[in-house]
Amino acid sequence: MADLHPDNPYAPDRFPDASKPVAFPPEAKKKFDYILTRYPTKEACLLPTLHLAQEVWGWISPETVLYVGGLLDLSPATVFGVVSFYNMYNQKPVGKYHLQVCTNLSCMVRRAYDIYDHLCERLDVNPGATTKDGRYTVVEVECLGSCGTAPVVQVNNDYHENMDVSKMDALLAELK
Ligand code: FES
Repeated sequence: MADLHPDNPYAPDRFPDASKPVAFPPEAKKKFDYILTRYPTKEACLLPTLHLAQEVWGWISPETVLYVGGLLDLSPATVFGVVSFYNMYNQKPVGKYHLQVCTNLSCMVRRAYDIYDHLCERLDVNPGATTKDGRYTVVEVECLGSCGTAPVVQVNNDYHENMDVSKMDALLAELK
């Protein structure tokens, strides 16, 4: 069978590898147990549990989908449906700095693509990819909900607003 694009849901690396099971380390397990006490049903714990998993592993792998489904009595399809719906869940490993440039309408008209293109060129990385040294991942994302301060770049969990190319360069210098 021909190789499938990795974004294709039927690509082999979209399926969990049974030889690589995952489990929360003790600290994360304590946090998970606390999450269970905060919501009326196990299903309602799905979003915070995925956030916790991403905090631990940096992304949501197919093995993590299976693991979280097992913890919450949910099918892998249900968990994957949620992971693939929200772009705050990383479906691939990301670099130490996850640079998410909003290119939706307000940011686009305020020159977000100048920032995005500059980042890809300066960091020598293809759009949506991670630098060879694993430090930076550069992706474009849909509206980050801060249109009044467009253009917006999210770096890991922090928003940087009213950005331009020179502010982006200054920010990169701080991320060393
Ligand atoms: S369009 Fe960029 S934050 Fe809304």
